[in-house]
Amino acid sequence: MKKMLFAFLLVSFVVFGYIFMSIQPTEASGYVEPYDKLSTKTRDISRAITSLREELEAIDYYNQRIATITDPSLKEIMIINRDDEKEHAAKLFEWIRRNQSGWDKELKQYLFKGPLAKDIAK
Ligand SMILES: [Fe+2]
Repeated sequence: MKKMLFAFLLVSFVVFGYIFMSIQPTEASGYVEPYDKLSTKTRDISRAITSLREELEAIDYYNQRIATITDPSLKEIMIINRDDEKEHAAKLFEWIRRNQSGWDKELKQYLFKGPLAKDIAK
């Protein structure tokens, strides 16, 4: 009897798991709103922001490894890789600026010439 109950629970778990996975679109993870209610543009912006976050994480990982690597030739490779990620991040940020309103105004104010929080406080 216990074996039948175990088999029933196992089959139920697999069947319900399959149904749940088939209902959820593959790309639904990471969204806070229903995927099917988001426009194509909103989804693309989300993809760009996710990719930008991943590029920034990669920069951080490389940067930490560079700080601890002892072999000079490996350190040189990691520096090149880290800086490649900066290029990727910059391209994504520029795509986001061009495709989501509001960024252009903020970046013009704060990049290269605008005041930072400590400057505004003065
Ligand atoms: Fe990258």
